[in-house]
Amino acid sequence: KEVAVLSVPFGKGAGTAGAELGPAHILHAASLETKLAELSIAYRLAGELRPAVQPPPLQSANAKHLAEVHQMSSELAERVSELVADGSFPLLLGGDHSISIGTIAGLAEHYANLGVIWFDAHSDLNTEDTSPSGNIHGMSLGISLGSGIPLLTGLRGIVPKIKPEHVAIVGARSLDTGEKAYIRSLGIACYTMHDIDRLGIARVMEKVIGQFKQTTDGVHVSFDVDSLDPLEAPGTGTPVKGGLSYREAHFALELLYQSGIVTSAEFVELNPALDQHDQTARLAVELIGSLLGEQIL
Ligand code: ARG
Ligand code: MN
Ligand code: MN
Ligand code: MN
Repeated sequence: KEVAVLSVPFGKGAGTAGAELGPAHILHAASLETKLAELSIAYRLAGELRPAVQPPPLQSANAKHLAEVHQMSSELAERVSELVADGSFPLLLGGDHSISIGTIAGLAEHYANLGVIWFDAHSDLNTEDTSPSGNIHGMSLGISLGSGIPLLTGLRGIVPKIKPEHVAIVGARSLDTGEKAYIRSLGIACYTMHDIDRLGIARVMEKVIGQFKQTTDGVHVSFDVDSLDPLEAPGTGTPVKGGLSYREAHFALELLYQSGIVTSAEFVELNPALDQHDQTARLAVELIGSLLGEQIL
């Protein structure tokens, strides 16, 4: 499959500005194309999703920039759906994690049982009622599961986009009260840093892969760079100590490549304004390499 690289320079779902600069840094400062060429991966640049006009504001109780997120999500859903339809492997460069709302909406048109592996320090399962911040990037997985703002859960007329048993969160260590209750009540597989310390990343990934191999018809990897330890990845808006090590992250993605189950991916929450000499952008490119088949030997 040809990898279609789509830039989504959108940062209004986050509380800190800068994630909209992510795609440019992944492509230029960290030369994603050099990596893809080195690996002899067939790819094309599918351009950039940049909504033309400012939408009129929408009323909301506790969701910042809802109109902009809605506009971006609906355009992105359409683009992603087209990329799958033409046989490509969509690789999205974010942007903050609210872009998943559109990505998953587009994928859901093609996969009735889409698996989602959510690498993240957070679970992004808030609703307007439980969100401490009102930032929609903290609600995107919940919205894909059908919980939250109807305008967003209803995109493309498929509700919910994904089922709780087809979600695995990996790397969690900062969950809000409402999110913990939601995870428990739906029985979502949430592999916290505690679980990774106990089991090791290999067994965690084997469990996820084993489960998804049997039950899903496509697998989307949604990689929030704040899943990584901030010592490795300082360039992100909501860093949390105690994250995935450099090798844990690479190894997880190497195992996913070997499993052959992954059908799309996105790398989000890189904030170049907070980065140190593009360290996080360069790590993101390396990790994309591992997910797409780079091997040590
Ligand atoms: N749980 C917090 C919130 O809802 C932080 C979310 C951070 N999300 C992210 N995609 N980085 O505001
Ligand atoms: Mn720069
Ligand atoms: Mn996230
Ligand atoms: Mn996060």
